[in-house]
Amino acid sequence: MLSGKRILLIVSGGIAAYKALDLIRALRKRGAAVRCVLTKAGARFVTPLSLAALSEDKVYGDLFSLTDESEMGHIRLSREADLIVVAPASADIMAKYAAGMANDLATTVLLAADKPVLMAPAMNHRMWGAKATRENLAILKRRGVLTVGPDEGDMACGEFGTGRMAEPQDILAAIEAHFGAGAPLSGRRALVTSGPTYERIDPVRYLANRSSGRQGHAIAGALARAGARTILVSGPTGEPDPPGVDVRRVETAEEMLAACRAALPVDVAVCAAAVSDWKIANARPQKIKKGGQAPQIKLADNPDILKLLAAAGKRRPRLVVGFAAETENLIANAKAKLKAKGADWIVANDVSAKGGAMGGPDNKVHLVTKSGVESWPRLNKNEVARRLTLQIVGALAGKT
Ligand code: C5P
Repeated sequence: MLSGKRILLIVSGGIAAYKALDLIRALRKRGAAVRCVLTKAGARFVTPLSLAALSEDKVYGDLFSLTDESEMGHIRLSREADLIVVAPASADIMAKYAAGMANDLATTVLLAADKPVLMAPAMNHRMWGAKATRENLAILKRRGVLTVGPDEGDMACGEFGTGRMAEPQDILAAIEAHFGAGAPLSGRRALVTSGPTYERIDPVRYLANRSSGRQGHAIAGALARAGARTILVSGPTGEPDPPGVDVRRVETAEEMLAACRAALPVDVAVCAAAVSDWKIANARPQKIKKGGQAPQIKLADNPDILKLLAAAGKRRPRLVVGFAAETENLIANAKAKLKAKGADWIVANDVSAKGGAMGGPDNKVHLVTKSGVESWPRLNKNEVARRLTLQIVGALAGKT
């Protein structure tokens, strides 16, 4: 429930603006108060009247409206909210916000905001993929702006790709995750690593593995739904960002380690990434040319992120969970790993071809702890994530 929570919803221009109506309805149903700011472009897609009717409040739109400014200054709009949600967030509003522009009410509210901001981007997939948008997004994320979506699918322009606004229920989930609405991990911080790492050989080639990131992403999503403030450090994957999770994308193991260290302190760390054990010791700054003798690639050890987090002294997460992807002697190897890595738990899974865990929808895992082994049935990876989260809730209960 979101009883008593005050959401300031900024609706910017885009075909997805109609979904804002469902979002308002869902938020109101859960007890939240919603106040809307509608941009000029947004008003071409939905009417102020619809927003006002559903939010049962006045809709704000014009920065220079003297009555609005005397009744409700733009500063007060954010002061009187617990969370600012921008849905849809167009490429334009993201660019303006990243640049610190303030030339209408929505951008002025954002620039003056003293509250967390959650954006649900919505745009054509080429705009979403554009360098400018990627950079704006990175700036906003660095400043702590939360995002949900966009999703992949058919677009209003007739093309297919990533750029569709997240569905209202996913935006709602992200909002609930933000407030940890009565959730068991409310007030807790979680770190999850996921996906493979890419170790550069030269600017175009890399050493990688078959990890899809599905399991790690599912765990991050489940922890966020349970109310934890969740940071997901992800190697390159095609998995969409889980709603309500602060996703930090990296390529190499060293970048992953730096991003994990920057995320500390956390209560729980789940290392589900398939980190490359080696990096390329003789990586080249220029593309290696074919011809002559085949190049010799020299490998060097990568840092062991799990081990380093488990040995982080005062900054050690209270609960450190690792994964063991094995093709043989699963349990014995997982037990050895528990010790060698200094982890509290190891989730052991069979990644042989018959196990189908790598990239597949299901996983058969064994939870190996200091007190024994619990074997779970073959489950969908989301269900594995949910069960693991329940165990984490239990383990953290009562710990301060
Ligand atoms: O040693 P191995 O790669 O089998 O251990 C698996 C566990 O250790 C996983 O939890 C994985 O995320 C983590 N790991 C790590 N950094 C590495 C290698 C593995 O965090 N360099």
